[in-house]
Amino acid sequence: MPPMAPPTLALLSLWAVLAACSAQDDPIGALTPSDLEAARQTPQGVFNVSAVTWNPYRDAVMDVNVTGPVASGDWIRVSFSGIPFPDPHGKDWVALYVPGDADPAEVSPVKYRNAKHAEGYMDTGAGSLDFILENHRDTMRFYFMRKAPGEPFVAAKSPLIQLANPNAPMQVHLALTANHSEMKIQWVTKDTGSPAVEWGTSPGHYTSRSKATSTTYTRDDMCGPPANTTGFIDPGVFHAATVTGVKPLEQIYYRVGDEVSGYGPEHSFIAPPLPAASSSVIFAVLGDMGQSEVDKSNEPYQLDASLETSSRLEADDDLQLVLHIGDLGYACGYVAQWDRFYAQLQPIISRVPYMTCPGNHERDYPNSGDRWGSSHSSGGECGVAYARRQQMPRPGDDKMWYSFDFGPIHFS
Ligand SMILES: [Fe+2]
Repeated sequence: MPPMAPPTLALLSLWAVLAACSAQDDPIGALTPSDLEAARQTPQGVFNVSAVTWNPYRDAVMDVNVTGPVASGDWIRVSFSGIPFPDPHGKDWVALYVPGDADPAEVSPVKYRNAKHAEGYMDTGAGSLDFILENHRDTMRFYFMRKAPGEPFVAAKSPLIQLANPNAPMQVHLALTANHSEMKIQWVTKDTGSPAVEWGTSPGHYTSRSKATSTTYTRDDMCGPPANTTGFIDPGVFHAATVTGVKPLEQIYYRVGDEVSGYGPEHSFIAPPLPAASSSVIFAVLGDMGQSEVDKSNEPYQLDASLETSSRLEADDDLQLVLHIGDLGYACGYVAQWDRFYAQLQPIISRVPYMTCPGNHERDYPNSGDRWGSSHSSGGECGVAYARRQQMPRPGDDKMWYSFDFGPIHFS
């Protein structure tokens, strides 16, 4: 893209929002220092998956308070009883698995909570915990795991939980293209289908339509564990469609989906400003943000600063652009963490363009061509998961650099 004149800024707001990669102290006393170190970036990474055995108790019961299909964002109450003493109850975890028939000896849970936080559990061996469910595009089931995370065994399991629509469009986010009259829309569903974006300049009236292209990645596309082992669940299909012919600063209303599995709810964005030295823009810059669970699962690894950052951005009606300059969600090889990350950010990045570049936690892995050579930071993703999910205007595969103009600023 051509270089811009030096910016004349009437107003420029730059937030350097750096959420630290730190963990809170371990409140359950069950983890070694090395467990905690690993868990700072991958809550699922502490789970000794290959050691999981099955030892269901005859009198143990695990149930959920829903009988029909669920949708993303639904709360669910998981109850459990009949867990005998004298086992150390401090190491009892309630863990959610996807798909519901997954073998816990082969895949990590997508989230978990310690049973001791259920009221009365430590005295009675019975209690309940609340969780938020995400759309992981498949069935789900809770398992009651004892002696977790080091020597876990399955003591009970819940009924199977069905999703109302595994193809509901999720993870909706925007990106600029090299053309100022365009906006790229990206989203995720379970199947490929016939995806498209529909848009217009007034709510509920979609006068234009653009078909999407679709891609995904498989376990074999990953370059190492846990991305190609315990962290892998079907990531779904990543769709990208381009809204075209928009005027500078025009408000656009849009929805994504397809005719068979349905369209998602309406979203809206303001079209990019023209490159002009006289205009002003308001943008945020993020690095090392991570993600966190609103339901306090995956304790004790809550990155509350991440939730504070995203809630501040969500409340900022003046925001026009978000840059994320590496280390996005710290998925580090766990597909479910990507799902959670986008669920947290969608309210923001479905209304303003989200321009990103990979950090070590998206790209680095030994012998994969990265700068550091010996870093396992991407958890075996090697930039593939990032690149398929974040389709930036870059020159090619594993060429993550690009530049763009936004108002008076040339970003490169
Ligand atoms: Fe980082």
